[in-house]
Amino acid sequence: MHESTTRMTQPILITGGAGYIGSHTAVTLMEAGHRVVLVDNLCNSSARVLDRLRRLCGDAFEFVQADVRDGAALDALFEHRTIASVIHFAGLKAVGESVAQPLRYFDHNVGGTISLLQAMERAGVRRLVFSSSATVYGDPASVPIPETAPLTATNPYGRTKLVCEDLLRELTHADARWQVAILRYFNPVGAHESGLIGEAPSGVPNNLMPYITQVAVGQRDALNIFGNDWPTPDGTGVRDYIHVMDLARGHLAALRYLEREQKSLTVNLGTGTGVSVQQLVDTFARVTGHPIAHRHVARRPGDVAACWADTTLARKLLGWQAEHDLARMCEDAWRWQAMNPGGYED
Ligand code: NAD
Ligand code: UD1
Repeated sequence: MHESTTRMTQPILITGGAGYIGSHTAVTLMEAGHRVVLVDNLCNSSARVLDRLRRLCGDAFEFVQADVRDGAALDALFEHRTIASVIHFAGLKAVGESVAQPLRYFDHNVGGTISLLQAMERAGVRRLVFSSSATVYGDPASVPIPETAPLTATNPYGRTKLVCEDLLRELTHADARWQVAILRYFNPVGAHESGLIGEAPSGVPNNLMPYITQVAVGQRDALNIFGNDWPTPDGTGVRDYIHVMDLARGHLAALRYLEREQKSLTVNLGTGTGVSVQQLVDTFARVTGHPIAHRHVARRPGDVAACWADTTLARKLLGWQAEHDLARMCEDAWRWQAMNPGGYED
């Protein structure tokens, strides 16, 4: 069979495919003509996302409810389908929770990754895209941050990402048949332009954008801005916010790279631009017409002043760069929140 035909007919497995980034990546892959198999245990997502995906993409996907730590379930999954590649999103991501429950975080994030790699090895599928995070740079010595910057962990969540990265580096060194893309995401925000899928945090959001949209929709009275005395131009924290659809396209570019080059890579996915909390709040108000009530409170423990990506390598190796600007991120985040005030549980 011709290589491009094989690519289209053999499905791509997306673990954590019912989650925020996984569901958006599923849409991007299906729009590019791929069939996808989503596997998720739904511990931090809703089965209702599947109806939304069907509305957007029809039946080009299959859903399997399973835990990636369950080797037998993964074996059954690989046995009945000829999977071309795996994109591994499944894991837990709340920093504060990871401090309180380190064992649970290592179990899902490290144990889950080992279980998946073992099942892939048994099935002879050795092409993987892995969700890492800019958290592996800790408190960076300088910005923008290149992939060569020192790696460290400042909390158990970050440690699980670093341990998985180390494991994947050892694996690709030991066995050249493995092709692994380690993608270090900066701050994913926004939603699909349809407003049908988006980020649906349970409880009080930890991250800035969902907190802002919940204030705008009237679910929370005011945003707490963590620190106005950071060494940044306006004193509030600076981050590299990236539209989730740009991030999703980065996964497609990484898959293409692995197929084309037959070798592994580690790359930042960000816009390369730092934006402060105050700038984000102001842009959101301007674009949506909803001013965000806010108050200044103490710095959040574990936060860093500024963190944004050097995106040179992604442009060079993947031919990829972010296309959506901050206004578009705010517009799409707001459309999703306004259309789905209770997330998927309306
Ligand atoms: P998410 O919680 O929305 O999605 C993760 C999905 O994995 C959820 O649907 C959850 O139910 C599922 N899951 C968790 N443990 C599982 C297990 N053992 N077996 C099967 N399914 C399981 O999170 P997200 O924002 O989409 O993040 C996806 C990945 O990207 C995670 O690995 C996260 O650490 C990483 N990441 C996220 C961000 C971010 O800000 N969202 C930033 C950097 C890295
Ligand atoms: C957090 C995680 C990080 C993870 C990243 C993406 C922590 C300490 N770090 O980083 O490991 O990789 O999310 O998921 O949790 N802010 C407020 N008020 C709020 C929320 C946030 O002022 O209610 C500020 C923060 O201080 C920060 C910025 O907004 O300056 C962004 O915060 P957040 O969205 O939580 O992302 P990170 O801090 O980058």
